[in-house]
This record gives sequence, C-alpha cells and structure tokens, in this order.
Amino acid sequence: MALAPKTDLPRHVAIIMDGNGRWARKRFLPREAGHVAGVNAVRDVVRAASDLGLQNLTLFAFSSENWKRPKTEVGALMGLFRAYFRSDLDELEQRGVRVRIIGSRERVATDIGRMIEDAEKRTVANTGLNLTFAFDYGGQEEIANAARELARAAKEGRLDPETITPELFATRLFTSALPEPDLVIRTSGEYRLSNFLLWQSAYAELAFVDTLWPDFGREQFIASLENFARRERRFGAVSDAVA
Ligand code: FPP
Repeated sequence: MALAPKTDLPRHVAIIMDGNGRWARKRFLPREAGHVAGVNAVRDVVRAASDLGLQNLTLFAFSSENWKRPKTEVGALMGLFRAYFRSDLDELEQRGVRVRIIGSRERVATDIGRMIEDAEKRTVANTGLNLTFAFDYGGQEEIANAARELARAAKEGRLDPETITPELFATRLFTSALPEPDLVIRTSGEYRLSNFLLWQSAYAELAFVDTLWPDFGREQFIASLENFARRERRFGAVSDAVA
C-alpha cells in the first residue's frame, strides 16, 4: 500500500482505541485478552507513525471514567501499561520518539507515576514522533482544572480576566506543547468522543471506523491518513472554489 506523501500528513492524529472487549468476546476470551491484543495494535500503529514521519500521535489509553470497570480489568490495564513501558521504551528511544503522558497523576499507583516521569525524562530531548498517552485522562476535568487555575490567578490579582482568550486558555491544558489534532480516529463503530480532547478537537476531522482496535494496524492507519488527505478542511470559512 502506498504511503501518504509527507506533505499531506496531518500534524497531529489522536485515536480513541475502542473495541478490545468486543474483540475478546467474539473469541470467547476474557476482556483482558482483548487489551493484550490491543497493546500489539498500539505497537503497530506507533511504529507506522514513526516510520511515516508523523509529528504527533495521541492515544487514549485509560479514561478517568475507566476506574469504574471491574477491579480485575483495571488491574490488567495497569499491568499492561507497566509492561508496555518496560518492553518498548528502548525501541521508542532508538526511534527518537518523545513520550508524554497527559491526565491526572493523583490516582495512579506510585510506581506508575515514577515510570511515567522516567519515560518523559528519558525521551525529553528526542525530536522524532511526539507520542502522547492519555492516561487517567478526562477532557471535562482538564477544562475545569484550567478554568480553576485561571480563576485563582485572577482572584490573586495575577491575571486580568479580560485578557482570557482561547489561546491563553489552551496554555493551561495538558496539551499546551502540542498542536491541536487534525484528525481524531475512533475504532469499533461507536460515534462518540467519550470525553477525549474536547477543547482540542474543535476543528478536527473525525473518522469513525468499524474495525475493532486489536484488528487496527499499520494498514488501517495508513488508510485513515489517506482518507484524511482527500478531505477539504475549511475551519469555518468557505472553500476556495466558492470564494
Ligand atoms: C477500549 O476497549 C479500550 C480501552 C479501555 C483501553 C485501551 C487500552 C489498550 C489499547 C491497551 C493498553 C494500552 C497501552 C498503551 C499499554 P473496550 O474495553 O472499551 O472495548 P469494548 O467497548 O468492546 O468493551
């Protein structure tokens, strides 16, 4: 399959990796087996993104609502996150990938917190793919935190409320170092954003694909990028053909 020419690549692709549970159920396997297969898809897509020269890839690995899942499943997901960093960080480093984790750090286990800090520190100088995992992440919580921070600054006289613009607001989000996503992909045929990058996705192209996440890989990823390259983005203006 032909790779999309680099000039047509979106600057930032974000993915809601959905369908692990259904993938497992179809095979009469426990849900955890679906998540294990999901990690292989993560690996495949990260390698593809890095090979293509994509600048930014953000993956929704664990939402702030996912804590409500059965303890065994939450435990399995945490275990997979640990194992992924243990096994893949060397390769990510070699590829020049810079790793970031966005989300609340307050609820995650201490060792995972340390592991996250270590991965971010080890890759801080890398200039290849910016790979961001949304982990214990919720978009509404992120926006509320930003609002609280600005309100506090205003209350303490450090900020004039009249100077609050979307650009200033965005500097208080976890993603302040990243461009907004141009393309948000959700797998498994569900048509929702599920509290993912709500602010940042204002103008993103949305792609909903039927493939369950464990079956998503390099080929499907490239197909989504090619589809994106064919879309016309207007950002609220009219197209050149009409203007
Ligand atoms: C949704 O499938 C997926 C998740 C809740 C987590 C995504 C996690 C992974 C892909 C594996 C872990 C990731 C890393 C980086 C180690 P679902 O369980 O909601 O599927 P369902 O809707 O079919 O039940």
